[in-house]
Formats: sequence, structure tokens, C-alpha cells
Amino acid sequence: MSKLIVQNNGPLYGEVIISGAKNAVLPLMAATLLSSKTCLIDDVPDLKDVSVMKDMLMSFGAEINSDNKEELEVKVENISTTNGDYELVKKMRASFLVMGPLLSRCGRAYMPLPGGCAIGKRPIDLHLKGFKALGAEVTEGDFFVEAKAGPGGLIGASIYLDFPSVGATENIMMAAVLAKGTTYIENAAEEPEIVDLANFLNKMGARIKGAGTDTIKIEGVTELRGVTHTVIPDRIETGTFMLAAAITRGEVLIKNIVPDHVKPIVAKLKECGVTVELLDDGMYVDARDRVLTATNIKTLPYPGFPTDIQSPFMAFLTTVKGSSEVMETVFENRFMHVNELNRMGANIKTEDRIAFVPGDSELEGTQVVATDLRAGAALVLAGLFAKETTEISQIYHIERGYEKFVEKFRKLGATIIKVEE
Ligand code: EPZ
Repeated sequence: MSKLIVQNNGPLYGEVIISGAKNAVLPLMAATLLSSKTCLIDDVPDLKDVSVMKDMLMSFGAEINSDNKEELEVKVENISTTNGDYELVKKMRASFLVMGPLLSRCGRAYMPLPGGCAIGKRPIDLHLKGFKALGAEVTEGDFFVEAKAGPGGLIGASIYLDFPSVGATENIMMAAVLAKGTTYIENAAEEPEIVDLANFLNKMGARIKGAGTDTIKIEGVTELRGVTHTVIPDRIETGTFMLAAAITRGEVLIKNIVPDHVKPIVAKLKECGVTVELLDDGMYVDARDRVLTATNIKTLPYPGFPTDIQSPFMAFLTTVKGSSEVMETVFENRFMHVNELNRMGANIKTEDRIAFVPGDSELEGTQVVATDLRAGAALVLAGLFAKETTEISQIYHIERGYEKFVEKFRKLGATIIKVEE
């Protein structure tokens, strides 16, 4: 197993280029199952999760050419099975996003249950509610779920999501594109990744309106063609590097961003006294030579403050003047990083879904564990501020979702190396 060794080497300075979004490219890859023609996806990040999704698509008979890592060519002329591979679903819960496309194109999908993870039990009830509403017969076992369309295929319907689930919105959208008639998804997730998927599907010939709002209308079509598409930049990686500049009191230019996608992070960092300016070719973040102050955070579905930035932002808040409150409303157990930050001297208290974060912490490097992707990033940020050396283990979490993570930080002057444990 590998680990990261991080030391405080002072403020970060320089430029960083943001990669394509992990949480956009995974549903786009799943959507290639909907067409028998060639799909070309550009600006694909080189991530462990992307390789798992490639394996998933190949297990259904996809031909994949990714000689050029950034560009992925997928052709699923025929689908060889509608059974999802347990080993692959176990590795990455997002592979559950193939269920909607399989059901849509083949009329059947049999998937092992994706199971929970460190941040919550991650149920799929809303995904299944949508499939049932579209006329599928859904059978739930202890370890699997099967959905079968009726003899006439899926039928358009109106579906209300009790929670604006990103994955359920994506899965249901992909199930509805080939259904007979019109589907409405109400209280839909509005994340930029939903819009990117809708744009991708519309380029394939789908007829989707309203993506990015709380009501999405999908008029079913009979078949979908091939597509060429570039993945949107990763707004969570963008926020992570904004916070790297802030926590080290440095000055960083972040390129390949979509400013609209990071508005809540910009707003909260400005409240703390960080300078954030939008330039023609990116975003300039300056936290040099100033006293930064506390603010309160409440995570919400988009366009609210993103839950994926909660832990990196909390690491930053331990270093500013004054106390902050961080409320996590999206996942039921997303404070696993608090124990690790407290091992570094953060002295954070939690009560149900609220973390009380004292400021002015003299963080001290020590051995800590990455409990999930974003918690791992938070611990790296804390290590860039702390005295002494921070050793972070279980960094496979980080490698799942951040492309060239160590190289990008080193290019900004961070002292960070990856070693084998
Ligand atoms: C996506 O997960 C992202 N993953 C997550 O990013 C992100 O944190 C999350 O959306 C919220 O923005 C990908 O896109 C691959 P949800 P997803 O369904 O779709 C409840 C990262 O670090 N819920 O919006 O699984 C659920 O329990 C990852 O990149 C139901 O109750 O998130 C949770 O409390 C972590 N029933 C809430 O909705 C359901 O059927 C949000 O989950 C589905 C979800």
C-alpha cells in the first residue's frame, strides 16, 4: 500500500490546469451503452474510477480504444449480457449507472447491489422508483436487483424524486431516453454533471429539456446515434486547488474552469478574506499577507455548497481566525475526516450533522488515514499547513478521483511525495 508524505513548504505559487470531471465522465461513459455507434469522449481524466468503468463497459461487449489517454473511443455494437459484474460494482458504486442504459436499450438489467461506503449507506430506492414508474418490473434480492421492461418496452411517466439524487436523476434520464412517450423528472438534481449528460444524450439524438433545473422533460426517441463530446472541467478539483492556495496563504492561477460551477466556493472563500478574481483564462486566487477569518458552511444539493468540498474546506477553517460551524445535510456520515484532523490538533467537536471548528489551530503533522476521496484531499491540505510531517495512508481513495494529484501539487511548490508503505 502506498502513502503520501506531506510537509509545510510555505505558500503555494503558480498555475494548475483542472482535469475533466470524474462525476461527469462516469455517467457519460455509461451512456455510451445506449447507442450501437461510435462515441468519442475528450478530456477524459486518467483515474482509477475511469478504468473501472472501462472494464464495466467491456464486460457488456463494448470495444474501447483509449491509446490516447485523454480521448476515449467507445463502440457498443451489441450488448453481450445484461448482468452487471459483481467484482466491478463492488469496486465502484458509480458503475450502478449502467443500469438505466441497459434497461433502456435491452429491456433488462441485473445488477449486484452497490452497497454503502464510509460516507453513508448510499441507498438506490430513488433509482428503482424511477424504473418502476417507467413500467419496469423490479425484483430486489438481498445482494442484487433486477429490472425488466414490459413487452412494449418502457413507457414515459412522471417521477418525483424525494431527494434530488444525482445518480437517480442520471439513471432515470438514461432509462427514459428510449421510452415510449414523455417522462418528467421532478425535484431532479441540478448539478452541472446532469447538464453535461443531457447535452451528451441530446447530441446522440435524445430530446431532453430542463436539465439544470428541478424539472427535466425527456421525450422518448427510437434510437440514438454516435457522439463526440468534451467532458466539463472538474468543479470539485477546482475547489480543492482554491483551498490549497488559501490554506497555504499562497497565490495560484487555476485554468480550465467553469466559474458558474464554483460560485458557492468562491463566495465562501471571499467571506474568509481570500481574493478570487475571474480572468479570461481562469481564476486567480490570492491569500497572501492577510488575516483570514471564519465563516459557516452548510452543504446542499447544487446550486448550494457542494458536499464534496466540505472536508477540504473544514481543513482550511481550522487555520483561520475565529470559530466556524460546518453542517453536512447531504450524507449522513461525512465527518470521518474530523477524527483525523483532530489527531493533528484541530480540536473539532461534532453534534449530529454539525461540526464546530475552532480556528487558529496549530496543526501538527502525524500519521493519518484517508477515509474517502475528499477526506484524503482535506488531509493533504492540512499537511501543507501543519508543522512537522504528515503521513497519509489509504491514498487509493485519492487516486480514484484526482488526476496527477501529487504532480500538480509539486508543480505549485508543495513538498509531497508518494512512497510504498
Ligand atoms: C454523486 O453521488 C457523486 N458521485 C458524489 O461524489 C456526490 O457527493 C453526490 O453525487 C452528491 O453531490 C458521482 O457522481 C459518481 P446522491 P450519488 O444520489 O449520485 C440519498 C465524490 O466524492 N439517496 O445525490 O451517489 C443518499 O443517501 C462522490 O466524488 C437516496 O436516499 O449521490 C444521499 O444521502 C462522493 N436514495 C443523498 O441522496 C437514492 O436512491 C445524495 O446522494 C439515492 C440517493
